Amino acid sequence: MNATVIGSQLGDEGKGGIVDVFAGDADVVVRYQGGANAGHTVERDGETYELRLLPSGVVRGAVGVIGTGCVVDPGTLFSELDALRERGLDPDLRVDARAHVVLPHHRALDGIEEAARDEGGEAVGTTGNGIGPAYEDKAGRRGVRIGDLTDPDSLDSRIESIVSRKRRLVERVYDVDPDELGVEVGAPGAPGAEPIDPFDADAIREILRTWGDRLESEGMVVDAGAYLTAADREGKRILFEGAQGTQIDVDHGTYPYVTSSNPTVGGAISGTGAPPTLVADGHVIGVVKGYLTRVGNGPMPTELAEDHAAAVRERVGAFGTVTGRARRIGWLDLPMLRHAARVNGFTGLAITHVDTLAGFDELRLCTAYDLDGERVETVPATRAAWERCEPVYASMATWSAPDWGAVADAGYDAVPEAAREYVETVAESLSVPIVAVGVGPGREATVVRTNPLDRRDGRSDARPITPRDQSTD
Ligand code: IMP
Repeated sequence: MNATVIGSQLGDEGKGGIVDVFAGDADVVVRYQGGANAGHTVERDGETYELRLLPSGVVRGAVGVIGTGCVVDPGTLFSELDALRERGLDPDLRVDARAHVVLPHHRALDGIEEAARDEGGEAVGTTGNGIGPAYEDKAGRRGVRIGDLTDPDSLDSRIESIVSRKRRLVERVYDVDPDELGVEVGAPGAPGAEPIDPFDADAIREILRTWGDRLESEGMVVDAGAYLTAADREGKRILFEGAQGTQIDVDHGTYPYVTSSNPTVGGAISGTGAPPTLVADGHVIGVVKGYLTRVGNGPMPTELAEDHAAAVRERVGAFGTVTGRARRIGWLDLPMLRHAARVNGFTGLAITHVDTLAGFDELRLCTAYDLDGERVETVPATRAAWERCEPVYASMATWSAPDWGAVADAGYDAVPEAAREYVETVAESLSVPIVAVGVGPGREATVVRTNPLDRRDGRSDARPITPRDQSTD
């Protein structure tokens, strides 16, 4: 039995906490897209872990797999691994040989390209981790893959040409001196991060060799699709952990204000090489934050005016995990959620931050949009139409804060009645049942109604190997 956990909004829904709840019953936790742009906060035994690239399940002792669809900055990867080891954890991590590498110049280009877009008022508000430029090179067939790092001789001759093309791009298109740019190798700003010249081919060759040696010496590189298929056959329980959210998916989101990958369920298939039947295996959990936040630019019809947003932000601490930027804040938006439920085929909802909403004087729920005088129930395809959408609201009953710890212990029926009405209105409108409700940070503060990976049924999950399975090896 496997499951996939997906953000239904604009990222920062609290997926890390939900993954953490289910990861206790998972053997393998897999990231399938994105890179160090994801901010996952996991609490364990009173300790808080903030991860950007590693699957958050590694904190819970599951094997972590970084799939084909991810873009991996090995410097950040090693910094996160080392930081966990220093705190006494022993993460077991595998990285797909086909995953692409975020090279130092991708991070430099992310900043340069954002600055250029900003001049035309078109900045996306990226996290600055080189995600877009790395995916551009992947699609442009210029990328370097993790497997290449373990065969550095094959790469040496390519580096000269890759770096010299990027130098020309920076000089001639963006009118920037490449030798003036530096980035840090390792999680930027983290202890141990080393400055590097991203446009110096010798420096790049050297760092790639160092990364390749470490990946090889720690035996991290695998074929993720084959690894997951074998684990599934052995009856292991696999949790696919989406990063970001449906509305910033490059295909299904508020394009062009999106990330460059597919957080939606199809990404879990193409981004791992595991077959579709294995990926969802009947369970696709949509994580819904009780209100809406966005870091970065783009349409957000239910956004609060800044004075109201500032007051809420102060109260709920809405700042980006990766960037520290103030999050934009809005009312919960059902048209977005209907879109997410359809694109992903959610079988269950985990609704988080229900505690955060306690004590509000007013609570609104956007039930539809008015688009050019027509009532629409889901999101439009184009940015121009998104920007013309006016929210239609229902006013919801508010609730005051009980002892959330006691609520978490007592279970769903102890959640305040108005809060239950709120989450049930959402679930009914999407025709998707609620599997969990978050009433605070940390797995203990998650009221679980159904755990898709629950082992208590005592079933054996080992699958019979059919002749067809064998022939696909
Ligand atoms: P990029 O992924 O760094 O290229 O950023 C593209 C857009 O996605 C920007 O608006 C970012 O703020 C947003 N974004 C990327 N990762 C996350 C995340 O983990 N949570 C929320 N927003 C994100």
